[in-house]
Amino acid sequence: MKTHSITPQQQDKKWWHDAVVYQIYPRSFMDENNDGMGDLAGIISKLDYLKKLGINVIWLSPVFKSPMDDNGYDISDYQAISSEFGTLEEMDKLIAEAAKHNISIIMDLVVNHTSDEHYWFTESKKSIDNPYRDYYIWRKPQADGSAPNDFHSYFGGSGWEFDANTGEYYFHQFSKKQPDLNWDNPEVQKVVHEMMNWWLDRGIGGFRMDVIDLIGKEIDNQVMSNGPRLHPLLQEMNKATFGDRDVLTVGESWSATPEIAKLYSDPAREELSMVFQFEHITITFDPVEGKWKPRAFDLVEFKQVISKWQIGLADCGWNSLFWNNHDLPRAVSKYGDPGRYRVQSAKMLATALHFLKGSPYIYQGEEIGMTNVQFDAIEDYQDIETLNLYKERIAEGSSHEEMMAGIHENGRDNARTPMHWNNTANAGFSKTKPWLKLNPNYAEINVESALNDPDSIFYHYQKLIQLRKDHEVMVYGDYSPLFELHTQVFAYQRGLGNTQVLVINNFSNESVQLALPESLQGLKGQCLSSNYEQRTELTDALDLAPYESFALLLKCNEQE
Ligand code: GLC
Ligand code: CA
Repeated sequence: MKTHSITPQQQDKKWWHDAVVYQIYPRSFMDENNDGMGDLAGIISKLDYLKKLGINVIWLSPVFKSPMDDNGYDISDYQAISSEFGTLEEMDKLIAEAAKHNISIIMDLVVNHTSDEHYWFTESKKSIDNPYRDYYIWRKPQADGSAPNDFHSYFGGSGWEFDANTGEYYFHQFSKKQPDLNWDNPEVQKVVHEMMNWWLDRGIGGFRMDVIDLIGKEIDNQVMSNGPRLHPLLQEMNKATFGDRDVLTVGESWSATPEIAKLYSDPAREELSMVFQFEHITITFDPVEGKWKPRAFDLVEFKQVISKWQIGLADCGWNSLFWNNHDLPRAVSKYGDPGRYRVQSAKMLATALHFLKGSPYIYQGEEIGMTNVQFDAIEDYQDIETLNLYKERIAEGSSHEEMMAGIHENGRDNARTPMHWNNTANAGFSKTKPWLKLNPNYAEINVESALNDPDSIFYHYQKLIQLRKDHEVMVYGDYSPLFELHTQVFAYQRGLGNTQVLVINNFSNESVQLALPESLQGLKGQCLSSNYEQRTELTDALDLAPYESFALLLKCNEQE
């Protein structure tokens, strides 16, 4: 077996290299004051739980003042907390209490756009010569009065909204209540940097940067993502704000390739710590109709994408690892089996992901195997994207059934139903009817029962998180794919020095017989993780049970 010299990243270790991040969607996490909406006090009350899980970073989805058109991704004051979540004092308390648990809080930096109720925008709208006019992107109508171009918003309808008062259109890539900021304006850069420093001074651990790939756009050339100004802007931001602070910064990018990811995350370029990219997710969407018309999961294609990223960022750059977040369906429903093999498949997915190189992100409820929800009535959904697209596509001729199938599979509310804490009314999330209906399966799937079962998905995650701290090979080891064309098994090896870890995951609900290559036959090892009986040695072939998964720390020295 080959040996490996010390890797460049091992030479330049960062605290976040072996961190595991837990994402909290505040309105759905825990409702302490029983008004039906999660809040900061609720999060504080669950820090012991998160500590027990073992995570050391919380990514907090937005808690800033907001009219909540897009559940807080439309911010009307970056330096105030939305009253449904609490107060600035409670935010300071959360930062301090989390620190006592060795958990740092990273805030969601949503600066591609603001809310239309932000002071900057209400000023900007007032007149063409208002000092804030150029904070946003305004254009004159075309000769016939129509929008400057046909850009379509991600949330449906035109990306241009006419303002009768000044006779111009403003640009918004998301809802019309989310006008895009004009990043060509140095004044915008300056106020955003000041705001970021204000938060950093309060002791936060960094930022998750919402749709950051869009800030370098060139509207008139119709360039939206990865515009020419993107990386210079990030370098300026780094210099002006977090550059000399030891924080975690992660950029959301739906458009990155491994080459682009290195631009963001090569430490020498002084931009961000890591990217959060979606290529393994977007391959499950229809190339034309997008996520509303899902396509079958193709494991071989998925493995190609994972390998491309693992190998592409082998020595330079850093990636995030995730199955789901607040915009995506629940992992076990999408990639595993939410029914008979829910527990096995949830554990398998966790193992498959956590042994890869990069920083694992766990989305609230994933650690207990929460599943997608299937409301029959469109009225039971709350998400602006779901509701707008439903309306738009029905008007264009899609059927209710087709749309509901897409929503059940990929709609964002799948991830946003309230967290299941126990089997009492409202799953222990609140004493009042929650803002979004619960998933009815909370009696079976909840934190309390997970904590009472030593064999639960929760403890599987707890173990994986600890393993990453104990085994450098999980953090810095190189990656080699195995069985690349196998349609049911995702397997790979990680190696660092003399240490090798073999990870085998059966992605199917069938037993699979896997003939092993000679190089693996007869090897013995320590079983680091498994979801059936532990395996400690390899024969000529493996009989894998449905969704079976294991990781073996190979005893290489004995082989050499
Ligand atoms: C990001 C967020 C998503 C939000 C959008 C606009 O993709 O994750 O929830 O709707 O940006 O801010
Ligand atoms: Ca509340």
